[in-house]
Amino acid sequence: MLTPSAPARLVVLVSGAGTNLQALLDACADPAYGAEIVAVGADRDGVEGLARAERAGVATFVHRIADFDSRAAWDAALAASVAEHAPDLVVLAGFMKLVGADFLERFGGRTLNTHPALSPAFPGMRGPADALEYGVKVTGATLFVVDAGVDTGVIVAQTTVPVEDDDTAESLHDRIKVAERSMLVDVVGRLSREGFTVDGRRVRFGA
Ligand code: GRF
Repeated sequence: MLTPSAPARLVVLVSGAGTNLQALLDACADPAYGAEIVAVGADRDGVEGLARAERAGVATFVHRIADFDSRAAWDAALAASVAEHAPDLVVLAGFMKLVGADFLERFGGRTLNTHPALSPAFPGMRGPADALEYGVKVTGATLFVVDAGVDTGVIVAQTTVPVEDDDTAESLHDRIKVAERSMLVDVVGRLSREGFTVDGRRVRFGA
């Protein structure tokens, strides 16, 4: 069970453009949303996601795997930086790395990720392209509680997007991202205001 502070403290991790982060930053500008982004972390320098955080006056940190002797050392440093900001929820918003044991020990059960496909179909880095190649007519995005697997965590919410005949992986992903951002904002707001309980593979809103 998670009962967040009011407003809920969010740490968001990014690897790239940060459009999901921007949607959360915009939502958090309204006090009624019930959450604030207290820090943004990344696994690489110079990405637009970090610039978005800086423009919003949010603290940032970067840990690059290449700067550590082992993946475990990177994971421990990432977890330590997140812990400094005492988050209620951690949101992986286009964070393209798997977190490890140390991170899950500290933040398991309250770390969310979004995947641009309808889990359990098409896990991994090529969700939109794999869905298109398979020929599905409907795909979408999944918000889930991060576990040690690749996009296997308990599902919090899903949103659907029709596949068009002339879609490319890119056009499909662009439309998925529109639906994904709106789901992320809606659901992170609800989790922040109401708390939630994970019971087996089911998530219930409310403390
Ligand atoms: C999102 O579709 C996310 O699900 C995927 O990468 C995209 C990140 O977009 N893993 P952005 O960096 O938030 O714009």
